[in-house]
Amino acid sequence: MLKKLEDLAEKAGIMMTDTENLGIREKTSSRDLVTTNDLAVQEMLMEECSKLAPGCSFYCEENDMQDRDILHGECFIIDPIDGTANYVYGLDHSCTSIAYLEDGIVKCGVVYDPFRREMFSASEGKGCFLNGKKAGAITDRTLGDAMTCFGTAPYDEDTNDLTFRLAQLLYENSRDVRRTGSAALDCCYAAVGRFDLYFELRISPWDHAAGSFIVREAGRHASDMKGEPLDLTKRTSILCGSNAAAERFLELSEPFL
Ligand code: IPD
Repeated sequence: MLKKLEDLAEKAGIMMTDTENLGIREKTSSRDLVTTNDLAVQEMLMEECSKLAPGCSFYCEENDMQDRDILHGECFIIDPIDGTANYVYGLDHSCTSIAYLEDGIVKCGVVYDPFRREMFSASEGKGCFLNGKKAGAITDRTLGDAMTCFGTAPYDEDTNDLTFRLAQLLYENSRDVRRTGSAALDCCYAAVGRFDLYFELRISPWDHAAGSFIVREAGRHASDMKGEPLDLTKRTSILCGSNAAAERFLELSEPFL
């Protein structure tokens, strides 16, 4: 299954890099964009995944009639293009994310960035891979030595104050902070040690299902902002990265939550 998902993610990447007619539209707000490529990639992935697991269910970003029974049987959680705003603005930092689940448990996941041609992948119990090469041991940096990032939960105004209070806390207690615009890639970068910590207060299952699994397979921390396991059935906060840095940030942020 993993190899097949990697092939499909690559096919999605070819579609993504054809940016001639993006057909950009706003969804719920001016921050929430969709392009014709988001829809076309999702359609292709759903069609191909149905062939891999006939009768499976789907939980996808661009699909209002989501079949949400992710807890039973085979299911794919898909973000056809994560980092859509980056994509629209030509920032070349976006990806396709696919997680495959059996009875609610992620069995494998892929996140593919066609701009850097980087395939992050993992299957249960086998560790985390980047372009087919197993990620080596990653330094478990302390928060003080950490390069960190955060997401702004851009579709939820009610999280703004807390997001930026926590971002300031992170900045004051780490080496520096970044905001990249792709939650799935933030997770993968936290998996391979490009980031030591990533947090966001509200993201959807398709943003992190594959990425947070890849983080866990790398032996790194992946939880919500209360330190609880991530729930794939609903929107959630997220904290990923070095175990030492995550533990410290959970302590520091607790009074604010
Ligand atoms: C968004 C990106 C962004 C994150 C948002 C996500 P989308 O995904 O991952 O970095 O801050 O929370 O929703 O909408 O571009 O697929």
